Amino acid sequence: MRTRMVAGNWKMNKNLQEGVALATELKEAVKDPKCAVVIGTPFIHLATIAELLKNSPIKVAAENCADHEKGAYTGEVSAEMVKSTGAEYVILGHSERRQYYAESYDMLAEKVRLALANGLKIIFCIGEVKEEREAGKQNEVVKAQLEGSVFGLTAEEWKNITLAYEPVWAIGTGLTATPAQAEEIHAYIRSLVAEKYGKEAAEDTTILYGGSCNEKNAAELFACPDIDGGLIGGAALVAEKFLAIIAAR
Ligand code: PGA
Repeated sequence: MRTRMVAGNWKMNKNLQEGVALATELKEAVKDPKCAVVIGTPFIHLATIAELLKNSPIKVAAENCADHEKGAYTGEVSAEMVKSTGAEYVILGHSERRQYYAESYDMLAEKVRLALANGLKIIFCIGEVKEEREAGKQNEVVKAQLEGSVFGLTAEEWKNITLAYEPVWAIGTGLTATPAQAEEIHAYIRSLVAEKYGKEAAEDTTILYGGSCNEKNAAELFACPDIDGGLIGGAALVAEKFLAIIAAR
């Protein structure tokens, strides 16, 4: 059975106190959601918020993890450390990491490997930039991103992967993909998963849409057959908006 999900990605927003306040508000409001609910927070929030949400249906995600197991990598946070906070998920492959921190396919494959080895579930992001969309290359791009970092996984490992299609031109820009544009590429992504892991696994794979998804457009996007939920940036920072998106799923 395919899991429907609404996941928040706080990015580099909210200090610890503000993050705890938002998580507390969400905890009080989300008691019996119709879909899985995950919040991705900065590393420093993880332990506190995971503890706060221990008896809540809301799960916690890191927004990144290191591409090394342990050792002399000043400033890095390993998958094992993330797991030890009580977080259950890690977001990997976000376009901001690929773009600003030069995360390559190989580096991401290693992060994926380490995250899985440490029992984390992964929200793996893919998506094309504006020029690629304008050149009609979006399918090629997402295929290469999947082949480059996650299609080496076994069928068993694949069960821990949630995909998030996030067109880079739609992230934080207010330019949402139309439901038709999003559905078209989601269906394509699912067909790639079917080719690789079989039809049943593809049917069970959760594919989120991200990129200026908000409380106004979520219902229309989520109504598409291959859009299983959303990865939400800006609108996840305001409890009222995030809750409205959860209710739309
Ligand atoms: P946005 O970000 O909702 O602010 O566009 C989405 C994301 O980057 O995950």
